Amino acid sequence: MNYKVIFLFLFSTLCRADDGYRLWLKYDLIKDAGQRASYARSAQLIVLNSTRPVLKTAAEELQTGLQGLLGKPIPIVASAAGKTGSIILTVNPGQPQLNDEGYQILNRRNTITITGKTDSGVLYGVFALLRHLQTRQSIAQLSLTSSPKIQHRMLNHWDNTDASIERGYAGESLWKWYELPERIDPRYREYARANASIGINGTVVNNVNASSRFLTAEYLQKVASLANVFRPYGIKIYLSVYFPAPKTIGGLKTADPLDPEVNQWWTDKANEIYKLIPDFGGFLVKANSEGQPGPQDYGRNHADGANMLAKALAPHKGIVIWRAFVYKADGKADRFKAAYDEFKPLDGQFEKNVIVQVKNGPIDFQPREPFSPIFGTMPQTPLGMEFQLTQEYLGFATHLVYEAPIFKECLESDTYVGGKGSTVAKVIDGSLHEYKLTAIAGVANTGSDRNWTGHPLAQANWYAFGRLAWDHTLSAEALANEWVTMTLTTEPTSAKTVTDLLLKSREIYVNYNTPLGLSRPWTGVHFAPEPWQNRSSRPDWTAVYYHRADSVGLGFDRTVKGSHALAQYRPEVQRQWSNPETCPLPYLLWFHHIAWTKKLSTGRTLWDELCSRFYSGADSVGAMQKQWASVKKDIDPETFANVAGRLVTQQKEALWWRDAWVLYLQEFSKQPIPAPFKKPERSLKEVKELVEIYQLR
Ligand code: GCU
Repeated sequence: MNYKVIFLFLFSTLCRADDGYRLWLKYDLIKDAGQRASYARSAQLIVLNSTRPVLKTAAEELQTGLQGLLGKPIPIVASAAGKTGSIILTVNPGQPQLNDEGYQILNRRNTITITGKTDSGVLYGVFALLRHLQTRQSIAQLSLTSSPKIQHRMLNHWDNTDASIERGYAGESLWKWYELPERIDPRYREYARANASIGINGTVVNNVNASSRFLTAEYLQKVASLANVFRPYGIKIYLSVYFPAPKTIGGLKTADPLDPEVNQWWTDKANEIYKLIPDFGGFLVKANSEGQPGPQDYGRNHADGANMLAKALAPHKGIVIWRAFVYKADGKADRFKAAYDEFKPLDGQFEKNVIVQVKNGPIDFQPREPFSPIFGTMPQTPLGMEFQLTQEYLGFATHLVYEAPIFKECLESDTYVGGKGSTVAKVIDGSLHEYKLTAIAGVANTGSDRNWTGHPLAQANWYAFGRLAWDHTLSAEALANEWVTMTLTTEPTSAKTVTDLLLKSREIYVNYNTPLGLSRPWTGVHFAPEPWQNRSSRPDWTAVYYHRADSVGLGFDRTVKGSHALAQYRPEVQRQWSNPETCPLPYLLWFHHIAWTKKLSTGRTLWDELCSRFYSGADSVGAMQKQWASVKKDIDPETFANVAGRLVTQQKEALWWRDAWVLYLQEFSKQPIPAPFKKPERSLKEVKELVEIYQLR
């Protein structure tokens, strides 16, 4: 074999193997020549008469995409010179129907015009057109108009200075702080492309448990070099800040937000940042939460802290995103109520450029939570949404959990704050209370793994988050299908099968993990089942605090007889949820302590229903494996094997969860495992020993 032949052989093998690096931006050649020809009729040339960076990116991205899909070079020219078959990119600030980042795509007589009100709008229009081709839709007579419903669509990276990622399961941080600003890893650009393609326009690059290092002149240079890469993709950079930074790096004696010197320090710091990064987005702050310092250390409140930072950023049009994830170490209190209690009294007291970022549920990214009651209570304060893409409580990177149903469930929940139909989505998109600022964030699931997200199918969570941030009315199913078609296979039957697998995955996980509204937040290892865990430095960091199993029954009583957390919801919600007969089963144990023998609406007792869910949940993972096996012929072999392996692990761990819960709860319920299910083969002691392995140092 000569070298040429060897090279060609290696090259073709490389081309076949798909390690997931290209995400949903693969642009592989469209196999159907007829379809290629029909697309090509409107795609002979790209016309752009500008050298502005974001527009240049738009044209180049379109060129890359088209060349891949159509298999021929497509030139970028300054004028179509009367030729048909061109795609014209144009900005029209006066375009009606669109907001700043919206786009319109029109195909008339084989000439496609992509119009944005701004350069970013054109970029998003380009990705929308490419998506159309990637999902093999007709573009003849194409007429699409779309504007984002939320202004700030962001990823939050919980990445540390040492490249570790808090709750990250896909390798190390993408950011190589020790190489920056001199060496720019090409992957930063790939990251920006991926985000822009789904409409994300902001990124917080460091952990909310922040290091003051990021605010030093040394590190700001590094941050600025990343901002330079993201800018041509319409993405702004933000930093999480350490509230006492004026002390730790500023040499001041205090970080009191009402102290003039502290205020001056932040003003100077903001000026310094904007000199380096003129379009810097702003600060994200975790304060007085889980041991992080904050304004309360000085007898001030969250608004005092946020407003000080807001004033420093306001002249530069920067914003403060202040997190509402707070709770105190009080074993007698109900952690559920903490954030609402602290924030509700502050409604209307924040500066105009502050947004309060609220986790979707009242506790902490559990597999299923009711919506946070804060969404129904702060009409005068812009509230942003925080979802978690990384699977802290969703089986890390081994369990398949498609999260769009989680996001949709929360967004479509009715708060009743302005009467029926006041969904969480309408609160956060600003339409209900006319918020001037709107934001949504996803805690990123990306890392240095070649496929970005560890589990190949977890890319779908990043994808769906971005698309929903743009338009929360899109369905979980449509987004799953889009992602699968762009990423895994265009073969419709297999695409449908994988879409179905994704859609079922969350409910299956909930069934073997936390059915009927069980919750299990802080346990020693977030990975393993530990319902018995009852010792920690704080009571609300034990498992027993949450599930409250006893000889009578199971669940946290949050009715008037219990913690009365239900009072934080509007009366319409309270009425439904405070009665165990009308409370939706998925939330039952969130709000009620239910007797083991109580008959539920399913006709089974609580104990039997729980067992049925634990067992059927674990069994369903077997069915998922079969479903995955059925698409083998249409999936790249490397990706296929990767997912298949993870599903085997998931099956093993689902049984682990089932056995841990069933055997542990049985000690309280004293009930037999109902037929047709069989008693677990291992003992509770054996399950505990297995968990202990994961706690060994
Ligand atoms: C969870 C998570 C922490 C994180 C915190 C937060 O508690 O386990 O690692 O810091 O949420 O959102 O601030």
